[in-house]
Amino acid sequence: MTTLTPTSNPGASVPAAPQVPAGLPDPAALARLAGAFFSALPGKPADHAPELAPALAVAGNPAPAGSPLAGPGGTGTGVPGAAIPQGKVPGANLAPAAPTHVLSLGNRVPALLPSAAAQNGLPDTVTTVAPALESRFGGAALGVPPVADASPRAGQAASAYYFLDTAGLASRSGPGSLEHIALPDASGVPRLVPQGVGHGDALPWAAAPSGAPFDVHAVRRDFPILQERVNGRPLVWFDNAATTHKPRQVIERISHFYAHENSNIHRAAHALAARATDAYEAARSKVQRFIGAGSPDEIIFVRGATEAINLIARTWGVSNVGEGDEIIVSHLEHHANIVPWQQLAAQVGARLRVIPVDDSGQVRLDEYRRLLNHRTRIVAVTQVSNALGTVVPVREIVELAHRAGARALVDGAQSVSHMRVDVQAIDADFFVFSGHKIFGPTGIGVVYGKREVLEHMPPWQGGGNMIADVTFERTEFQPPPNRFEAGTGNIADAVGLGAALDYVERVGIDKIARYEHDLLEYATRLLAPVPGVRLIGTARDKASVLSFVLKGYETEEIGRALNEEGIAVRSGHHCAQPILRRFGVEATVRPSLAFYNTADEVDHFISVIRRLAGRR
Ligand code: ALA
Repeated sequence: MTTLTPTSNPGASVPAAPQVPAGLPDPAALARLAGAFFSALPGKPADHAPELAPALAVAGNPAPAGSPLAGPGGTGTGVPGAAIPQGKVPGANLAPAAPTHVLSLGNRVPALLPSAAAQNGLPDTVTTVAPALESRFGGAALGVPPVADASPRAGQAASAYYFLDTAGLASRSGPGSLEHIALPDASGVPRLVPQGVGHGDALPWAAAPSGAPFDVHAVRRDFPILQERVNGRPLVWFDNAATTHKPRQVIERISHFYAHENSNIHRAAHALAARATDAYEAARSKVQRFIGAGSPDEIIFVRGATEAINLIARTWGVSNVGEGDEIIVSHLEHHANIVPWQQLAAQVGARLRVIPVDDSGQVRLDEYRRLLNHRTRIVAVTQVSNALGTVVPVREIVELAHRAGARALVDGAQSVSHMRVDVQAIDADFFVFSGHKIFGPTGIGVVYGKREVLEHMPPWQGGGNMIADVTFERTEFQPPPNRFEAGTGNIADAVGLGAALDYVERVGIDKIARYEHDLLEYATRLLAPVPGVRLIGTARDKASVLSFVLKGYETEEIGRALNEEGIAVRSGHHCAQPILRRFGVEATVRPSLAFYNTADEVDHFISVIRRLAGRR
C-alpha cells in the first residue's frame, strides 16, 4: 500500500489570487462580506458584522431611488409597500437556508418526522441554497479553457448561442461552437479508471496523462457558492449525490437567456422565438452528444430522472407490460426506480422482481440470470447507486435483458457527472438523468430512448407543442421528441443544462473520473480504519459515495457535527430504503464527492469523524 501524504498533496496548496477585471468587485472583499453576513445571522444585530450594512444596502435594494421597484429605504424589500418582517435583519430572507436551522426544524416539528424513521428527524428532502453571483476568473492557464462570452451585448450577431437557421448548427465553428464538444468514444462499458492509479508520495491529480492538467482550484473558482462560509467555516460541499453546485457559466447562460432570448419556442416567427428555439434545440443536441445518442430526436426534456422514469413506466410500460409479465429492478435502486414500476405492476397485474446484491453492494449477475425469463418485459437498473456508490455493470445487464427479449432502462442520475457515458455502447433502450446532478439547474432532466422504441410509444401528457393536428374528433401527434413534451417546458433550464454539459466537456469527463476516483480512494483509506466506522457499500467499482455509520452515534448527530464545521453531508435513508435495510441499517451518513472537492476537505472531514469516534 502506498503512503498517504495529504500535506504533500498539490490540491492542498493555496491558489494564487485571481486577477480581477477592472470594474468588477474584489472577490476577496465579497467573500469577507458574505462570510460576515451569514455568520451574523439570524438574530444578531448587524453591527456584529461591521462590513455588513453597506453590502446589504447594495444587495437589498438594487433598484435606483424613485424606481417603482425600489423599496422604502436603502435596505428595503425591493417590493413597493412591502415591509421587512419585524425582528429580522434586513436581507435575512436572502440568506441561504443554513443546514443548522433545517436540522433543528425537525426537532421542533415532530409532524415532519418521516414515516421511514430516517433518524434525522427530517422529511427526506435536500435544501439547496441560492448561489451568489461572482465575477469571472480562471482560464486556460489554469487548465480550464475559456468559454464563449455569454455576457450581455457580447455581439449578438456573432453570438455562439443564436442559430436562426438550422444550417448554422452544423456550420458554425470557433470557441463555444458545437463542433468544439468532443464526441464520446465508444470504448466499452463506462467505468472509472481504477487500475494503476495509486498514490505515491505525490498524488498525481494535477498531472493527468494527456492534454491540459486538471486544476481543481481553477474549477473551484468557477463555482461561486464554494466561497460561502457556514458556521464561520468555508463550506465543504459533500452532498453532491443530492445535488451539485452550478458554475458561473451555467448561471450566466441562464441569465443571458432571460436577458436576450426569452420566448416560448416553436410557435412564432419572431426573432426571440427563433433565438429561444435555437438555444433549446442546441441544448438537446449537446445532451445527445454528451451521452452518445444517435440523434437529438432521441432526447426528451423532462423535469428530472424521477419524471423520466414515470414517463417511461406510464407510456411504454402501460402499452407493453401486461398481466403476469415481470419487471426487474435491482436491490440498489432509488425509490424513483422502484415506485413507478410498482405502480405499473399494480395497475396491470405484473410482478416486480429484484436482483440481489452481495455483501459489498454489487449486483449479483448469477442471480440476475436466474430471474430473467420469457415473461420479463423490462429491466431497470441504476448505473451508480446513490446510497452506496456501487458502479453497476450495466452493459452486461442490458445485454442479458436483450437476450431474454426484454427492454432495458439505465438510471444515470448518479453516473453522468462522474464517468463517460455512451448509451449506444451500453445499448440501453432508455437512459435517464437529472440536470441538477451534473452542475445544471434543477427542474430539467432527460429521457433518452432509442428512436424505434420512442416511435411506438404513446404520448404521456396531452396539450400544446406535442400535436400535429387537433379536431374534436381526433388528434394527430408529433413524432418524438415533441410528442413527449406537452406544454411549455423548462426552456431556460434546458439551455442551462447544455451549458453545464459544455462545462464538463471542457474540463474533460475522463479527467474528472480519474481525479474523483483518486479522491474517493483517498477518503476511503482514511475513513475505513477510524474506530467504530462501518462503511456501507464496499464494491470494487465505486463512484463518489462514502456511506457509513459510526458506532454510538445516530446519523443525524454526525450530520449536525459536520455541519458545525461547515461540512454538508446527507444523513438519512437517501430515498433508497431497501438497499440500506439489506445492510441492516435505516440510515447512513453519506459524504458524496464531486470534481470540485479537494483532499484538504477530505482531511477536514476525517478529523471531525476521528474526533467524534474518540468520544464514545
Ligand atoms: N436522489 C438524491 C440523493 O440521493 C436526492 O440524495
